[in-house]
Amino acid sequence: MMRDLSERSGQAELMDSPDVDYATFRACLQDLAKVNVLSLGYRPTLTFLESLRRKGRLDQDRPIEILDVGSGYGDLLRTIHRWADGHGVPVRLTGLDLNPWSARAAAGATPGNQRIRWITGDVFAHEGRADIIVSSLFTHHLDDGRVIRFLRWMEGRAGIGWFVNDLHRHALPYRTFGPLAAAFRWHRFVRHDGPVSFARAFVPEDWGRLLQAAQIPDQGTQVATWFPFRLCVSRDRMR
Ligand SMILES: C[S@@+](CC[C@H](N)C(=O)[O-])C[C@H]1O[C@@H](n2cnc3c(N)ncnc32)[C@H](O)[C@@H]1O
Repeated sequence: MMRDLSERSGQAELMDSPDVDYATFRACLQDLAKVNVLSLGYRPTLTFLESLRRKGRLDQDRPIEILDVGSGYGDLLRTIHRWADGHGVPVRLTGLDLNPWSARAAAGATPGNQRIRWITGDVFAHEGRADIIVSSLFTHHLDDGRVIRFLRWMEGRAGIGWFVNDLHRHALPYRTFGPLAAAFRWHRFVRHDGPVSFARAFVPEDWGRLLQAAQIPDQGTQVATWFPFRLCVSRDRMR
């Protein structure tokens, strides 16, 4: 019987279990990085940064601070580093992740010519500020109450804007991700967590409700679908 996807699922992901060892966690993150490449996952975030650059919002007399929350393997920040280099945008990049294995795996995958800071911690206990806060495949790990808290947290800490890049809850990827992951021989956690992630993810109406509950102003805020099956929220604070 087809699973009911009318509401966000609360089913746990294997990757979120506290006792996952380093080799398993890193193998999952490496497979997720492949998912990000194959599913054109960096494109929405880079398009957001590029739109800020074209509007002159990144023309500051200091490097732009970009914080990636739930940075995992660090592949998004390494991609942002290349984009910034290519456009002559001075940046200071920081990846924050709850799981200490993440900082270790991300540092190990980062070439010496890319200076990126990898830190371990819970975003809700993190005191720092940034010009831009991004996340990828992170918010679906949170229940609605914590998504609202995260939206408020970003709104209070991002000087220029923030960008949430996550999945679109939809029956097609929910059904097809497992067989696809098996065909690519991705880690069994990824095969399990992929469909669960789609079931935990969002439809545009969810974001409407969550943004309203977090009292994020409509002006400068946009919810957009990106092929294939990403649903992203952008916020330009236009200060
Ligand atoms: C599915 S992974 C996404 C990794 C990466 N951003 C990507 O796109 O592949 C979600 C990450 O969020 C991290 N995470 C979960 N809860 C967190 C929290 N409260 N604070 C910081 N990171 C958290 C997890 O440890 C995990 O590495």
